[in-house]
Amino acid sequence: MITLKNVSKAFYSASASAVHAVRDVSLSVKQGEIFGVIGRSGAGKSTLIRLINLLTTPDAGEVIVDGRDLTRLDAPQLRAARREIGMIFQHFNLMSSRTVFDNVALPLELIGRPRDEIRAELDKLLALVGLTAEAGRYPQQLSGGQKQRVGIARALASQPKVLLSDEATSALDPETTRSILELLQRINQELGLTIVLITHQMQVVKQICDRVAVMDAGRIVESGDVLSVFRAPQSEVTRTLIGDVISLELPESVRQRVRRRIEDRNGNGHPDHLLHLLFIGDDVDRPLLSEAVKRFGIDFNILHGQIDEVQGQGFASLTLLANGSREALDGALTLLREHNVTVEEINHVL
Ligand SMILES: Nc1ncnc2c1ncn2[C@@H]1O[C@H](COP(=O)(O)OP(=O)(O)OP(=O)(O)O)[C@@H](O)[C@H]1O
Ligand SMILES: [Mg+2]
Repeated sequence: MITLKNVSKAFYSASASAVHAVRDVSLSVKQGEIFGVIGRSGAGKSTLIRLINLLTTPDAGEVIVDGRDLTRLDAPQLRAARREIGMIFQHFNLMSSRTVFDNVALPLELIGRPRDEIRAELDKLLALVGLTAEAGRYPQQLSGGQKQRVGIARALASQPKVLLSDEATSALDPETTRSILELLQRINQELGLTIVLITHQMQVVKQICDRVAVMDAGRIVESGDVLSVFRAPQSEVTRTLIGDVISLELPESVRQRVRRRIEDRNGNGHPDHLLHLLFIGDDVDRPLLSEAVKRFGIDFNILHGQIDEVQGQGFASLTLLANGSREALDGALTLLREHNVTVEEINHVL
């Protein structure tokens, strides 16, 4: 649905050196998916999303949406192409002098749709976003979540094929964020709309994205389906961002406890092995650890961990201390690995 090929954009100013906001980015978004772009502040996310509807013109590269290279269109063609691409923003960008109804109606007025058609269309749109009762209110009389619902309805008014979302939930509290993300997911499923959303919150990616690209300093440093990226993050930026929602690092207090325990044992008995385990999907529900205990006589002591859901699948990150002979431990590790548990021995972090 959307393909960017080697797209770059730099900003030049007289006083400072050039800022290469987007560097040689290629990516492809499939029809009907929710594609997330995540990165820290200044990574180039907003610039990238504005390149998709050519609000920003690239210095180099191709921007292909629904089969057409937008960089090759003349002004009227580009205006028509942009109607197929809706956009929502962090600060909603509503017109304060217009009611909810008139804000949503604006794109339809601009293309000269008759009033009765607009009314019929608006009835549907306002019902879809749950704002039928607020049609006559003004933006300053709405909550943040309601304002974003207006933004979404307005973006949908021209029946786009693609919806671009630039930090649409960043100004909202966690509960409102969840409800807006649920609305986006419903729109994606019911209308088959392709959604590209950019965010600095892994929580957003975790909740609704099918695939994700991680941006850092203008480049895409890794991308893939969300579960794979969570399972095996390739870059430090990605690890840090995932760490916001699932704790991958062992807290210092836990490390100290383990160090003390190892000192206390002072070489007696079998050595302790610090293990990090990632369970994904159905394996979260299997009694694999108790099976390892029974079969290999290993002792496990859970130190730290979290169980969550990513893309509707169970996802558990556990750090534990295992005690047993080397052979018993190897047997247990093989059992776990045979069931697709990612196991790492991490004594080196102590
Ligand atoms: N119109 C512009 N003129 C000059 N520099 C710009 C312009 N737009 C963006 N930049 C610069 O490009 C870089 C990337 O900015 P961009 O807004 O794309 O980042 P971002 O990932 O969206 O950040 P944030 O999470 O803070 O919104 C920044 O260094 C920014 O200062
Ligand atoms: Mg931005």
